Amino acid sequence: MSMHGSSKAKKVTTHVLQEMKLHGDKIAMITAYDYSMARIIDTTGIDIVLVGDSASNVMAGNESTLPITLDQMIYHATSVVKAINRALIVVDMPFGTYQGNSREAMSSAIRIMKETGAHAIKMEGGSEIIESVRRILSAGIPVMGHLGLMPQSIHKFGTYVVRATEEEEAGKLVEDARLLEEAGCFAIVLEKIPARLAANVTSQLRVPVIGIGAGAGVDGQVLVLHDMLGIIQDFSPRFLRRYHNLFEEIKGAVQNYTEDVKNKNFPNEREQY
Ligand code: KIV
Repeated sequence: MSMHGSSKAKKVTTHVLQEMKLHGDKIAMITAYDYSMARIIDTTGIDIVLVGDSASNVMAGNESTLPITLDQMIYHATSVVKAINRALIVVDMPFGTYQGNSREAMSSAIRIMKETGAHAIKMEGGSEIIESVRRILSAGIPVMGHLGLMPQSIHKFGTYVVRATEEEEAGKLVEDARLLEEAGCFAIVLEKIPARLAANVTSQLRVPVIGIGAGAGVDGQVLVLHDMLGIIQDFSPRFLRRYHNLFEEIKGAVQNYTEDVKNKNFPNEREQY
């Protein structure tokens, strides 16, 4: 037993994920941004932990994912990596670190891999970033694609509504998914697109497709931890299933503590030296 859990746990690799798709075993993926949460998560049998740039929203309180920096993503990822023993750890490349040119993309990806110890990176986009994807892959860094609703492009989309409902956008998405697979991506996230389109892409690709708001016909699902735990309450898209109401639980606990301090009920005689 190591400090961070059983060292005997079978590690999830990109190869394992590929096997899961072949056998029809569903892949479970969730986000994490810090050591304490990641430690809990790794005991659950989760397959992929994503250090998502959603950290910009849920950890830093920004309105979009755009402001988070490479240094900040590296900080979050380094904390998560220390806690994970079994799952594959994927880190989002933040906005502005790969769209410019493939050389910059490569050095951003190398920083993430070198400084965090994570296993893979994720990038939003298809044909527009394919040169960067290829260059990063050529360095031996596994890349997860991300298509559909791409939060880093929110100012282009103008809204967080479901994507690819029109034929043209759906056609481009299918082409982009093929392109990413051909380039060598080990998996692709599809966010907030019609379930039929997601199932269609999933049946065409050999690599696993992970959905968020993309229905059940994909190879796996991903949710943002703070959303599914009910810590964040003002975000309720149809696809989000809340497994807990942690906002109320934490609120109640801190309220009780505050009252105990004010009423001189804490600490008691057994809680002092
Ligand atoms: O940043 C993130 O959390 C993500 C998931 C929603 C897929 O990209």
